[in-house]
Amino acid sequence: MPDGSQDFKWDILRAEKSNCRHNFKLCYLYVNVVLWGTASTDESELGWGFKMTMKKGYSKEWWKELYALRYENGWRESLAVTVAQTDFLEKVLNIRKETAVLDLGCGDGRHIIEFAKRKYENVVGMDYSFVLLKSGMAEAGRKKLSASFVCGDMLSPCFKCRFDAVYMMDISFGLLSDKENMKALNLISGLLKPQGHLLLDLFNLQYIPKLLKKDRYKIGEKTFIVENAFDVLQSIFTVNTTVIEGNNSYEYPKQKIKVYSYGDIEKMFREVNISIKAVYGDSVNPNLEENKFNTNSFNMTILGQKAF
Ligand SMILES: C[S@@+](CC[C@H](N)C(=O)[O-])C[C@H]1O[C@@H](n2cnc3c(N)ncnc32)[C@H](O)[C@@H]1O
Repeated sequence: MPDGSQDFKWDILRAEKSNCRHNFKLCYLYVNVVLWGTASTDESELGWGFKMTMKKGYSKEWWKELYALRYENGWRESLAVTVAQTDFLEKVLNIRKETAVLDLGCGDGRHIIEFAKRKYENVVGMDYSFVLLKSGMAEAGRKKLSASFVCGDMLSPCFKCRFDAVYMMDISFGLLSDKENMKALNLISGLLKPQGHLLLDLFNLQYIPKLLKKDRYKIGEKTFIVENAFDVLQSIFTVNTTVIEGNNSYEYPKQKIKVYSYGDIEKMFREVNISIKAVYGDSVNPNLEENKFNTNSFNMTILGQKAF
């Protein structure tokens, strides 16, 4: 159990709304699934029926809408990728039944669900998007799995308990401004127990030129045109997506991701008392011996450890 005596689930349930920027709390019980959720006014403005305004009025904080939009438009990671990444996380973070783990920016909870299938009870997912969490909750309900989700902002996490490990998969770190990313890192360090681990699954800066292309793909009746760009001066990767639906077309909010180098992360970690223990090149490869980080690696997946 985290902090020795405390019961993990009670701690999650006690996630204080006073510490959150959200203004009310919901508690859902779906078969074996429990969601301790909070919802912000922003999200309710977007529609509690989970309908999103698609064509106008995007906030500067594009991530508040984009991931839910993509999900609603049918975008999913394959189960094989999720299973391999969960194998990877299990190994790298040495996750055991009693390990308290936070999946930060968990999206639709694909890793949480996989951990639930493996009977891990002390893993909780947190995300800003209630739309994504709701889909994770429904999926866990369909599979009769017990899974925990918290809706909240990584810039104001509302946990009292401390975690043995925090992970952020599929580039959930780097979506904010430099200042906010640093603030998030500081808060994450505060959520870790002494010697706790942090795993960040990031873009590999060296691999970026290979991603600068235009792709076209179809999901159902919709055609997606995806064009990537990179601002070398600011080290910001941008994804522009146009959706064509019948005779209509519209653009998603631009996805902007800060791409940090290994040296940047090392420096940022140092500021929050975390040291790098390992770096891997592919979060889908659980074979740690062959999983080397180099210029051809798709990912830069960094494992850090908090000092005492
Ligand atoms: C690239 S997705 C990754 C989702 C998930 N980790 C996965 O591997 O499928 C990034 C996620 O971070 C969430 N996110 C972005 N900014 C956030 C914030 N400030 N607080 C909490 N979650 C945030 C988004 O809602 C989105 O679900």
